[in-house]
Amino acid sequence: MARILITGGAGYIGSHALKALGEKGYTILVYDNLSKGHRDAVMHGDLVVGDLGDKELLDRTIQEFQPEAVMHFASFIEVGESVREPLKYYRNNVVNTINLLETLIKHQVDNFIFSSSAAVYGNPEKIPITEQAPIRPINPYGRAKAIVEAVLYDLSMASQFRSVSLRYFNAAGADPSGQLGERHSPESHLIPLILKTAKGERDYLKIYGSDYPTPDGTCIRDYIHVEDLVNAHLLALEYLLAGGKSDIFNCGYGHGYSVREVIEEAKKVTQVEISIQEADRRAGDPPLLVADSSKLKQKLTWNPKYDDLNYIIRTAWDWEKTRE
Ligand code: UFG
Repeated sequence: MARILITGGAGYIGSHALKALGEKGYTILVYDNLSKGHRDAVMHGDLVVGDLGDKELLDRTIQEFQPEAVMHFASFIEVGESVREPLKYYRNNVVNTINLLETLIKHQVDNFIFSSSAAVYGNPEKIPITEQAPIRPINPYGRAKAIVEAVLYDLSMASQFRSVSLRYFNAAGADPSGQLGERHSPESHLIPLILKTAKGERDYLKIYGSDYPTPDGTCIRDYIHVEDLVNAHLLALEYLLAGGKSDIFNCGYGHGYSVREVIEEAKKVTQVEISIQEADRRAGDPPLLVADSSKLKQKLTWNPKYDDLNYIIRTAWDWEKTRE
């Protein structure tokens, strides 16, 4: 089986991908600075604790491990923070990715899977969003993802290097074993925050905006279970290893839920009343983000198995209950 380097393998989506790759028998090396990730989430392969800013360590690691492909999860993920501290995002999400790419090109590692985001679309005009929709990010986080996509395109024009960029919609849920889940600090994502409120760790959940042009006034998102998202990575990997050309795919289910609908479903799962407080809109939140993922289904034969909000919240709740 192929040798795969996973950056950010100690983080939320990276650790789930790592588990799936490990179970399939791939040889894995994780490269993670543990600034956001967790050592105990690295359940397969070896871990190099290192920063993508450390070109010497990166060079040595890639030279020794000789990966056939890389999955690049390591990145900052907070839209609001990216607006306040853009350079932090351009440094980590763009410059450090370029460090990684330079090292890969040097060692002739040609297959790259990039964690991109629906944030590259900004406020889309048409829903569901296809990959052809204009790239118009509205914050530094989304712009940094779009810049890396452009770099990857140019690289594949200039060399043997090939990449798949996966534009994630709202990754959610947890591994059903209860061993892995979402652990951000600080937490900003809707489902974990609802569940922390259900657990009593928070007094109420703030609904950021109830005057959006949606049926119940709250934002609609396409929540995709992390296992289906990981499966898209496995398919992208097989595609690249079989010689597939560089490409870009949306990852979502093609329908969305409003903030209020997610809260209602979470009440059913947890059997707990969840206090809410209606608050102002959060800067930079588009009202509606729903993926058209037909390209992923057709070209990579992606066949999602967990398109069920109740299941997504149930796995997240099982995980949340294991946390102290
Ligand atoms: N929300 C609340 N209250 C909260 C938290 C979130 O009402 O306490 C709302 C948000 O305003 C938004 C929705 O719930 O309307 C979902 O918010 P999340 O923070 O869970 O997810 P986002 O859609 O903002 O972010 C996701 C990814 C980001 C990525 C972004 C791209 O998690 O990493 O999509 O659009 F940048």
